[in-house]
Amino acid sequence: MDEQAEQIALGLTEARAGTLRLFDLSEEDGLHRSPGFGYRPIIWHLAHIGVFEAYWLLQKLSGRAPLDERYERVFDPIRTPREESKELPTRREMEDYLRRVRSGVLEALDRFDFESKDPLQAGGYIFQLVLEHERQHQETLCYLFQLLDPSKKTRPDVPSPGEFEGSTAAAGEMVSIPAGAFLMGAPWDAFAYDNERPAQEVFVPAFRLAREPVTSGEYARFIEEGGYERREFWTEEGWAWREKEGWQSPLYWRREGGAWVERRMFEEGELRIDCPVTGVSWYEAEAYAKFAGRRLPTEAEWEKAASWDASSGTKRRYAWGDEAPDDTLANFGRRRWGTTPVGCRPRGASAYGCLDMTGNVWEWTSTPFEGFKGFEPFPYPEYSQEWFDGDHRVLKGGSWATNPSVLRTSFRNFFRRPFRIAFAGIRLAEDA
Ligand code: AVJ
Ligand code: FE
Repeated sequence: MDEQAEQIALGLTEARAGTLRLFDLSEEDGLHRSPGFGYRPIIWHLAHIGVFEAYWLLQKLSGRAPLDERYERVFDPIRTPREESKELPTRREMEDYLRRVRSGVLEALDRFDFESKDPLQAGGYIFQLVLEHERQHQETLCYLFQLLDPSKKTRPDVPSPGEFEGSTAAAGEMVSIPAGAFLMGAPWDAFAYDNERPAQEVFVPAFRLAREPVTSGEYARFIEEGGYERREFWTEEGWAWREKEGWQSPLYWRREGGAWVERRMFEEGELRIDCPVTGVSWYEAEAYAKFAGRRLPTEAEWEKAASWDASSGTKRRYAWGDEAPDDTLANFGRRRWGTTPVGCRPRGASAYGCLDMTGNVWEWTSTPFEGFKGFEPFPYPEYSQEWFDGDHRVLKGGSWATNPSVLRTSFRNFFRRPFRIAFAGIRLAEDA
């Protein structure tokens, strides 16, 4: 087999093993109920991953007929809305479907022409798309598993937590970023989504950005100072959501006596005040920024601070450079199953000295999700364009559950403003 094909085969096999390990976190009956807030049963994602793979690699690429009409309907999020995603097949049956798809895919890979001029095929794009899709669903699965009570989950083998030196940054420290242009988006040949292209030079006026994300301790202060009761911190829309949803603290926080208790993936425990706050909607992030006398960064500000090396005029793939991520550089890839204290990985600093830009928690930006100048939907409008709707906001950086391939500084995540189950937090900015 050609070397590129071998790489892809390995990627597919590893991704699938990772997916199946996630489903081992919980007994099957828990996987068939909605984990909360009207979300689809966790098990739905297993067959969905296979249906996406079959659609692109068997039907589109190889012109094959659907393997299973029912699957291709029920596990297509557009054809079957959330409310109707009930009474799903067993894990065994789904895995059987996935294996049938995969064997066809490996045959297609064997015959695949990496030199093809078709943009869908050139360099193996379509295989990368399928891989990236599975990896992103692994993170979504973590959001859903996090909703399940810890008593319903088995902790996989994880490396010992390890000791971290506390942060060396002063609390609330801001970094000054001088005015200037940088390269926004994905300039590299490696896989990127339509929404990351075309890369372009963007001028960013001088601004200041927090060295670290907002911690849970800082956010607790906001609550103590009446953050959720004082109307002045909220916009009209944010306040309406706060009222409707009854938000009083981040998701997973609970008051016990005078203290905060937080629910983590596998246990409940005292709030870890040095870790970044997460489980907050965009509206709460906005309210917190108002309380702190600051604002959320724009997407361009954030990406410049994370990726631009002004001394050499180059864009970095990760905050620290182009070196592949590891545990001393970032908290990512479910290595630790939760957040780690902010600022504890100085090696992972961006050129401007910002910490935790890659991994730990996603960070909300103030920017509505839109196409860059010159955007062209590819290969299907439902990945990006469908969500250029004014409600979604861009998030950057990746979380502790993000796979390495999704950690690139050009990657643009997007969620609706009231969405709270993502591992998303806050980084403050201000005008210079
Ligand atoms: C980019 C994470 C918002 O989960 O809806 C998965 C990724 N697209 N299947 C999502 C995606 C199609 C997407 N996010
Ligand atoms: Fe999907």
